[in-house]
Amino acid sequence: MTASRALPAPHVPPLDLGGRTALVTGAAGGIGRACALRLAAAGAKVRAVDRDAEGLEALAEGARGLGGTVEPHVLDLTDLDAAELAAAGTDVLVNNAGLQLVRPIEEFPPDVFHTVLTVMLEAPFRLIRGALPHMYGQGWGRVVNVSSVHGLRASAYKSAYVAAKHGLEGLSKTTALEGAPHGVTSNCVNPGYVRTPLVERQIADQARAHGIPEERVLSEVLLQDSAVKRLIEPEEVAEAVAYLCGPRASFVTGTSLVLDGGWTAH
Ligand SMILES: NC(=O)c1ccc[n+]([C@@H]2O[C@H](COP(=O)([O-])OP(=O)(O)OC[C@H]3O[C@@H](n4cnc5c(N)ncnc54)[C@H](O)[C@@H]3O)[C@@H](O)[C@H]2O)c1
Repeated sequence: MTASRALPAPHVPPLDLGGRTALVTGAAGGIGRACALRLAAAGAKVRAVDRDAEGLEALAEGARGLGGTVEPHVLDLTDLDAAELAAAGTDVLVNNAGLQLVRPIEEFPPDVFHTVLTVMLEAPFRLIRGALPHMYGQGWGRVVNVSSVHGLRASAYKSAYVAAKHGLEGLSKTTALEGAPHGVTSNCVNPGYVRTPLVERQIADQARAHGIPEERVLSEVLLQDSAVKRLIEPEEVAEAVAYLCGPRASFVTGTSLVLDGGWTAH
């Protein structure tokens, strides 16, 4: 009989991105801001991209004292050539910027549909395209695409957003297949409703589209399919992004990390 031996205590080293550069889009607010701060806390030099200059300045201020640094980079991602250039030389790319409009298809302005697809699908393609040569050159890279439950499920009145997020899922998987031989992983994170300005802004639109008062939107529309009846915090999403950038996630690629309080369990 062999003597039982105590297993060594599990040791999970903290995420260390010292010496790494991380580009986060939509970093001036909400989830992007939380991601930028989380990656900076892990030691990364964060290139914070957004069209909101003031928000980026506030972020850089808020990042003082963390292990890494935050460098604001004011850019409108509809400038696709500039987006691709901005991504050159980054080790970690977080495609996060997004916008929302809630309207029935027959009333949905075609120019807004075009902008949503440009910012949320075509810009990520161009950013990935700009980032991969450096990642491939060093044999390591992390692409994290902030998708949504709406990358996996549709909701009425969100044609552009749902189309863009479903497209982003496909782009992420293709990046994973091409990147694997070069040490590059690509994944999505898929939150349910997160407590951010993007959600606050759609309450009035949702109330109008569904014909109910604003105070009923949270429980009757946004959280209707969530088993956990609360909004998720941006920091919880940032933690999932950080996990995908860490050494324990090198075999995790081409997948979608769903943080939806049970929504897609239905
Ligand atoms: N809030 C949610 O409930 C939720 C849920 C699932 C997924 N998401 C996704 O998370 C991401 C971030 O959303 P959020 O809730 O933090 O939104 P947010 O509105 O708080 O932040 C989005 C950021 O993107 C920036 N942005 C928008 N268009 C841009 C452009 N053309 N160029 C540069 N920057 C631009 C905005 O300035 C803003 O800072 C989005 O992709 C969104 O689809 C959000």
